[in-house]
Amino acid sequence: MRLTALLLVAASCSEAPGPEAEPGPRRQLLRRRPEAPRVAVSAEQLPPRVMRRYKALSVPEPVKNTALVALGRLLYFEPRLSADGKVSCDSCHPLDDYGATHDATSTGVEGKHGRRNAPTTYNAAKHFRQFWDGRAATVEEQVAGPLFNPGEMGLKDAAHLVAALKALPGYAAPFAAAFPDVREPVSLQHVELAIGAFERGLVTPARWDRYLAGDAAALTALEKQGARDFANLGCVVCHAGELLGGSMYERLGAVNPWPSANDRGRAELTEDPGDEGMFKVPSLRNVSHTAPYFHDGSAATLPEAVRLMAHHQLGVELSEREVGSLVAWLGTLSGEVPAEYVRRPELPAGNLR
Ligand code: HEC
Ligand code: HEC
Repeated sequence: MRLTALLLVAASCSEAPGPEAEPGPRRQLLRRRPEAPRVAVSAEQLPPRVMRRYKALSVPEPVKNTALVALGRLLYFEPRLSADGKVSCDSCHPLDDYGATHDATSTGVEGKHGRRNAPTTYNAAKHFRQFWDGRAATVEEQVAGPLFNPGEMGLKDAAHLVAALKALPGYAAPFAAAFPDVREPVSLQHVELAIGAFERGLVTPARWDRYLAGDAAALTALEKQGARDFANLGCVVCHAGELLGGSMYERLGAVNPWPSANDRGRAELTEDPGDEGMFKVPSLRNVSHTAPYFHDGSAATLPEAVRLMAHHQLGVELSEREVGSLVAWLGTLSGEVPAEYVRRPELPAGNLR
């Protein structure tokens, strides 16, 4: 209670009229005048100039075909869709842990390591493209990537996938329920549609969205300062929209070159020199739970990632104060994991071999 009151006081003090007050004096103001009177809550809102840069997360209508979603859930958790029977989507994108492992790069079949960091599957369906380099358009199109990647799930081809599923009789009914009017319900395309439909429900509205919806008390003064810094520094130019990212490609090292250039990003797909070092700007939703950071998992902590971003993307060296407020605000982007939706289902019985 006392803490809340103090924070309200802090916020009201900080909202001096006129141009953006500088953070230093604001902090001192707070320390010198803890008895300052509370003012109306509306006075603590971020100014419209800042608010205009932000957009709340829209929660999509649930997919109507619930059997399709249920099938997708089974398949997401199904390790028998991998060459060694041990690796599922959930192995690298654990849904009870914000959809990403904490390894720099993830481990696939037979302990093989990839070279890129696994992003979270939460809210991924809303990205304009999938993967760090955008090589798949949608979550449906993305599914074949890991299934047939020799270092991830390692299946040989679509026929191998269909044979694996048909060897598990418990899958006949869920496929038939999801695709009632087709002669051959078990196919790669249907696996893609089902997993994609399930992923479309992995949406995590957060405290930040409550704030954007008008609940001024949803954020502390420090967190609001972070939202202001994020807009004023220019982070929001790239990390834009409801996901704070996931809507464009940008060069990593836009101002100061990124030290390691062994991953060429989009240029590996396009062979266009203009695409060297271009990556999808990742969403920052749930970012405080998805360390380590960047396509190579090279930043271990969020403060480090934030500092590197300011230096390499904006040519700005952040103060401790700015790092603190940015990290605090990024924490408000952590949403509720929909516990019921992501509960690990009981998988059909049976053995592949
Ligand atoms: C061995 C670990 C591993 C497994 C298994 C795996 N993934 Fe991934 N996933 C990754 C990595 C690493 C990336 C990033 C690769 C890249 O961008 O080049 C990724 C990227 C993604 C993305 C893109 C997200 C974004 O922000 O662009 C989605 C969606 C996704 N995976 C879903 C799945 C699904 C569905 C499955 C199961 C069919 C699966 N993954 C299995 C490691 C894995
Ligand atoms: C010029 C565009 C641009 C600007 C400006 C920018 N970023 Fe980024 N940001 C990116 C790109 C591109 C990546 C992905 C880089 C990679 O790993 O390949 C990224 C990645 C990140 C990550 C890591 C996310 C993850 O899941 O790995 C964080 C955190 C981040 N940015 C925060 C910030 C902050 C805070 C600012 C402002 C100080 C900022 N960014 C400014 C383009 C930008």
